[in-house]
Amino acid sequence: MIRAGIIGATGYTGLELVRLIKRHPAVQLIFATSDSQSGQSLKRVFPSAPELTLISPDQAPLHEVDVVFLCLPHAASASMAQTVLNAGVRVIDLSADFRLRDEKVYQAWYEVPHPAPQLLKEAVYGLTEIFRKELRGARLVANPGCYPTSALLALQPALKAELFNGPIIIDAKSGVSGAGRKPSLTTHYVEVAGNLSPYNIGRVHRHLPEMEQAFSWWSSSPPTLIFSPHLIPAPRGLLSTIYIQLRSGWDERRVHELYQDIYPDEAFIEVLPAGQAATYAHVNYSNRCVIGITVAADTIILTSAIDNLLKGASGQALQNMNVIFELEETYGLL
Ligand SMILES: NC(=O)c1ccc[n+]([C@@H]2O[C@H](COP(=O)([O-])OP(=O)(O)OC[C@H]3O[C@@H](n4cnc5c(N)ncnc54)[C@H](OP(=O)(O)O)[C@@H]3O)[C@@H](O)[C@H]2O)c1
Repeated sequence: MIRAGIIGATGYTGLELVRLIKRHPAVQLIFATSDSQSGQSLKRVFPSAPELTLISPDQAPLHEVDVVFLCLPHAASASMAQTVLNAGVRVIDLSADFRLRDEKVYQAWYEVPHPAPQLLKEAVYGLTEIFRKELRGARLVANPGCYPTSALLALQPALKAELFNGPIIIDAKSGVSGAGRKPSLTTHYVEVAGNLSPYNIGRVHRHLPEMEQAFSWWSSSPPTLIFSPHLIPAPRGLLSTIYIQLRSGWDERRVHELYQDIYPDEAFIEVLPAGQAATYAHVNYSNRCVIGITVAADTIILTSAIDNLLKGASGQALQNMNVIFELEETYGLL
């Protein structure tokens, strides 16, 4: 039995992990923490949650667990990661703290010095289907961002084949839980309901450097990314529509051949038949990523859908845990 702890259980990703771990046949949840609600039952925070008493992070019995999931905001997460690793316990971090390899890039985008730069080199980027080998036995996993998960799983074959000509454009839409539980004016019901809002469009969203970092791993001449996220009036779900202008020599037939066999045995990725598009309905409440491919006017249009709280966060984190401990990868997730 794997023994797990969750730090930051009163947030949306924390709640999803509590639910997933409670259902997982090979994992026991030893503790779940909250700064603001310690001593309370998680049921008081979320009426549908299992009965569970929250403890303060300082009281977390780290010596009693094998792995800790960090469901905290960036910067708070990295300091906690060092404490957990010092106790000899593995860390799966859902925040952005260990996704970027270069601490200067982190500081430029997150506007704080990295709290634990000494750990950056060892963190494994937890895009499970692509980095499965590196994840086996890892001590520290940087769980990818929700937008990067949907975009990178769809884009990796195109980047490796270098079939693009010019910038790649991602037009993405996320449900409001993507912004976390802390209320703000932009996530306020009256602002969101019946509305559709582009935000941080162009080259200013914090997930942009994370995606371009992966581009540089997979392509010798990485394309520029234009990334336009949108907030939609739904609680969850994330869809990226990606436009790639084809380089000469590529046509519709070659593109479909490339994508046909790209994820043949993946339990959580489905490539749809040519011309079909992915939707929220394909993926919500599952750990799946569904990818559609359409070619028109020498342009590939990829549609890639995930549930931001599952494949985009807690589901993928649990999938990574299964890989780290060499359990069946789908365990607790189907
Ligand atoms: N939401 C998504 O779709 C999604 C997807 C991928 C990745 N992520 C990332 O996963 C992390 C958690 O996201 P979330 O959506 O679950 O956030 P959230 O709903 O805002 O919850 C954050 C949690 O952290 C605790 N916390 C807040 N500020 C803290 C601080 N300064 N120090 C220590 N604890 C603090 C909060 O509760 P207490 O005060 O009760 O401890 C809460 O439990 C974030 O880094 C986020 O960027 C989120």
